[in-house]
Amino acid sequence: MYVSDCISVNDCGHLTVGGADTVKLAKSFGTPLYVFDENEIRKNIRAFIRSMNEFYNGNGMVVYASKAFCCKEMCRICMQENIGIDVVSGGELYTALSVGFPAEKIVFHGNNKTREELVAAVENGVGRIIVDNLTELETLNEIAASQGKTAGIMFRIKPGIDAHTHDFIKTGQIDSKFGFALETGEAMEAVKAALGMPNVKLRGLHCHIGSQIFDIDPFELAAKVMLELYKDIKEQTGVELPELNLGGGFGIKYLESENPKPYGEYMKNVSAVVKSFSHELGIKTPFVLIEPGRSIVGAAGLTLYTVGNVKNIPDIRTYVSIDGGMGDNPRYALYKADYEIVCANKANEERTETVTVAGKCCESGDLIQENTKLQPVNAGDILAVLSTGAYNYSMASNYNRIARPAVVMVRDGEARVVVKRETYEQITANDV
Ligand code: LLP
Repeated sequence: MYVSDCISVNDCGHLTVGGADTVKLAKSFGTPLYVFDENEIRKNIRAFIRSMNEFYNGNGMVVYASKAFCCKEMCRICMQENIGIDVVSGGELYTALSVGFPAEKIVFHGNNKTREELVAAVENGVGRIIVDNLTELETLNEIAASQGKTAGIMFRIKPGIDAHTHDFIKTGQIDSKFGFALETGEAMEAVKAALGMPNVKLRGLHCHIGSQIFDIDPFELAAKVMLELYKDIKEQTGVELPELNLGGGFGIKYLESENPKPYGEYMKNVSAVVKSFSHELGIKTPFVLIEPGRSIVGAAGLTLYTVGNVKNIPDIRTYVSIDGGMGDNPRYALYKADYEIVCANKANEERTETVTVAGKCCESGDLIQENTKLQPVNAGDILAVLSTGAYNYSMASNYNRIARPAVVMVRDGEARVVVKRETYEQITANDV
């Protein structure tokens, strides 16, 4: 009935997540509150690992894109599940390293990493630094030389694929700030430059074609485009690159009407293409990395809010105002992102009303959803916005100096705080 397997309704008519009553969670921990089902996160990770084993003989690595949701506990879960982590900043790198995450399994992205970030990456022995441009390549070689090390790198390539998704989150096309262009020869030039540098070791190439993608075809096409380049590199330099990173972007269910493919389907189809095409081109079948973010945490999370007031503007609309908003979930304001919303304490009732759910920020665009179906609600009711596990906590801000919510993780019905609620003291801590 709901967008995620971990959500249900109990005998009291309350919404549950991972077996825990969300109304009780709201009471115990306060609102707004991010809640995750740990078992669902692990289930999603294992589905990717299983498909990598089943369809690609385990000749690859699942790398969690931590930008989707990053905190120490999430890094620990990835470590326990024995997968890699993709970080895109010194802060994400620091978080992973702070729990003892093995640096060799860290993949470091970013189109403009600072010198400090690169120094930290080399110092800590990050396994794969995804180099975005020639300036970065030169800086990195120099930093590695000064530390007497060799940095493992991959290049980010723009394969020029239209992935049929929201324009804002389409990153593989030619007009993109990310990576090296293929068709201009820039990518080949970078490969040749790296092969001549003593302190970098080129492990392979990377591409990421976008996010929230439902079709498998663009992933297959991207893999083919990349392998063609591997063949050209072999012909022109004699070098066979051992690894291929195909990025993330697998779509999840935000609305009941959406039906994403099981994650195994991506691996099944993409693996078949990589194996047959590399054979056809006469190159070695590469070790493959995939970088799912949203698909691991998105549907495993929801956000709980308390309704403060309901304002009916006759013939126009009804605003239901909640105690959070664009500060904890900016995705509607940014992308007009879809969400299902349920009144957690009336989850058995029909969603008969059409309402606009508004946040508490001093801004008209601070909306979580417009014209959405909801049970009739009053002040004091608890709302659950579903599938908010990805890019909500990680994109939260302190706009209007509103404190960021706590994050609670539920496991077999038991809840624990994994990120504490921010305090006003913390918000003002750096003010002088
Ligand atoms: N790898 C790379 C290099 C990426 O740039 C991304 C996402 C991922 C992996 C993970 O993609 P995922 O599996 O999560 O779709 N803030 C936007 C999403 C931006 C995604 C950026 N890159 C949103 O809220 O929809």
